Amino acid sequence: MLIHSASQILTLAGGPQRGQNLGQLGLIPNGALLIQGEKIVTAGPSEELQAAYPDEPQIDAANCVVMPGFVDPHTHLIWVGDRAAEFEMRLQGKTYLEILAAGGGILSTVRATRAASLYSLLGETRPRMLTMLEHGTTPAEAKTGYGLETESELRMLQALIALDEEGPLELAITFLGAHAIPPEFKDDPQAYTDHLCVNMLPAVGAWWPDGRQLPFVDVFCETGAFDLDQSRQILSLAKKLGFPLKIHADEFDNLGGAALAAELHAVSADHLVATSEEDINILAESDTVAVALPNTPFGLAEDHYTPAQAILEAGGILALATDLNPGTAWCENMQFAIALACRYMHLTPAQAIAAATINAAAAISRADQIGSLEPGKQGDVLILNVPNYQHLGYRFGTNLVRTVVKKGDVVVRNSNG
Ligand code: NIG
Ligand code: FE
Repeated sequence: MLIHSASQILTLAGGPQRGQNLGQLGLIPNGALLIQGEKIVTAGPSEELQAAYPDEPQIDAANCVVMPGFVDPHTHLIWVGDRAAEFEMRLQGKTYLEILAAGGGILSTVRATRAASLYSLLGETRPRMLTMLEHGTTPAEAKTGYGLETESELRMLQALIALDEEGPLELAITFLGAHAIPPEFKDDPQAYTDHLCVNMLPAVGAWWPDGRQLPFVDVFCETGAFDLDQSRQILSLAKKLGFPLKIHADEFDNLGGAALAAELHAVSADHLVATSEEDINILAESDTVAVALPNTPFGLAEDHYTPAQAILEAGGILALATDLNPGTAWCENMQFAIALACRYMHLTPAQAIAAATINAAAAISRADQIGSLEPGKQGDVLILNVPNYQHLGYRFGTNLVRTVVKKGDVVVRNSNG
């Protein structure tokens, strides 16, 4: 198909964008994009491509921006139930970590998710995937972490594999057995850490289908969850077993998870709100992608956001994600993360767009396949009902996506365009 007459095509060509280089949109005014089969063939001036490919099915993108699909590299997509009552408790003054310490928070979703059948896990998750797709997310990362015992965690993995195979939204799957200390190990976090290492991680490795890329292994390195030594223990073993790594670091307290991520060559370190200057520098010198999740402080009504400018000044690779989860950020929409990143992390719209596409693809190790509109890459493309890219960030709270193309097929036509 030929998508033509776009007021702007954003190719994001050239690979992940480090430090102050963030924000190279590869903009083609009055542009066209040729997709054949599942792949992008070329992007260029509309007049030229229309003359060269008159027989391709045509999509008129006049007055619209065409860009790569958003990549959402941090979500807790799969769970059962909700935590609306905790939202009210937090508004009345209880903190997130207090609620967790009292057996609520993540643990309340764990109770609901453990009790759920595979069927209801799939049934509650599918509508969220559709919402993500309608808002322009094409691939998303998706974590387990509400099972915290082998059987329930494997059921979550099984559900995520099934959902990925169903499509059209693709999932990059992460095992987050180290999301919280389950009630059975309440008084002995070290015993759960050992159990994860001795039993759960090897069980995941043994169960995982042959021929499928191994999942990421992630740890919530935080006060009240896993301390730095426990995080190192789990992630080092995971690395030895061949799993690629991720970490939740410094969401509330600075425990040193960001430097650990760099030390272990993790693919990404995520949250990074309370990160020290020293750890920002260590992270920025590594190839580990720094994933900021502005929906989370917003969702918690907190004032501290990831210090994006310091990360960029230090030369880091910055990405954006939603952190979609039932506790802190039930938001499927990357456009909203961009709007917050512009306001509270002081990114320009161009920087936020690059962080939500090519750099986000790097945060799930897929920058060679997605995240930009370059020849040979997957045909994951958005047509936005806006005249120029600055409207992303500027506008918020409504869906600016008109059309979503996934692997060369139109999968969403929204009613706004
Ligand atoms: O990334 N902080 C840990 N995990 C999630 C929250 C999950 C939940 O509260 O259910 C996060 O914010
Ligand atoms: Fe998270």
